[in-house]
Amino acid sequence: MNIFVLTGAGISAESGLGTFRDKQGTGLWAQFDPMKLATPQAFAANPDEVHAFYNARRHNLLDSEPNPAHSALARLENAFEGRGDRLELVTQNVDDLHERGGSSSVIHIHGELLKARCTFCQTVAEWRGELGRSDICTSCNRTGGMRPHIVWFGEFPMFMDEIETSLAASDLFVAIGTSGSVYPAAGFVSQARRLGIATCELNLEPSDNAGEFDEGHYGPASKVVDEWVGRVLSEP
Ligand code: OAD
Repeated sequence: MNIFVLTGAGISAESGLGTFRDKQGTGLWAQFDPMKLATPQAFAANPDEVHAFYNARRHNLLDSEPNPAHSALARLENAFEGRGDRLELVTQNVDDLHERGGSSSVIHIHGELLKARCTFCQTVAEWRGELGRSDICTSCNRTGGMRPHIVWFGEFPMFMDEIETSLAASDLFVAIGTSGSVYPAAGFVSQARRLGIATCELNLEPSDNAGEFDEGHYGPASKVVDEWVGRVLSEP
């Protein structure tokens, strides 16, 4: 069995990290304008504002803990390893809660909040504190070029070749806690369908593209992911 799992902000919601969009209009992008905070143009025009936004999110992340949905996926990875099955875990999340929940192999398609990148030499460094214009790149020693290691709107998601290969090799595609509104990840379900791969959605409520999935299980991730992992592991 070869399972490809795509996670989104919903899996970290119960850990206290806000989602970007919800039907109540309280998501992060209803409170903040992504075009002013999450684009290369916004960073060039207003670096302090962009740094302040990501500094606050980094701070919030360091105060958060993984929840049972993260641990359930780690349990699945461990069990699969022991029996020769494969779990590919791709996340749109920039948090490190999958890793702290015990997953050892996680692909971050939209980058990582606890890393910074030098726009001069492209070196990526671990970064847990505040990030700002006065920070110096530890590799090229230049000041003023450090930015969050996050994929902004208008930039290319990371690891796409590896992801496409691994999606094509899977038997089941599972989307967890994602609204299915940001491409290319939102297109993985139709790609999987075209390839004849079974598809399943686990989300608080049916997502925008729920109709494309063969099956859906709805409720908080801590419950539905744990139950789904239990079912997968009980199958012969
Ligand atoms: P969204 O905020 O768009 O969607 C979150 C989804 O999680 C929604 O469908 C919710 O119904 C669901 N959800 C909320 N609470 C949940 C819970 N407790 N259990 C299960 N599901 C729950 O987040 P993403 O789809 O991840 O990009 O957003 C995709 C990208 O848009 C993000 O990676 C981010 C953003 O712009 C970047 O920052 C580059």
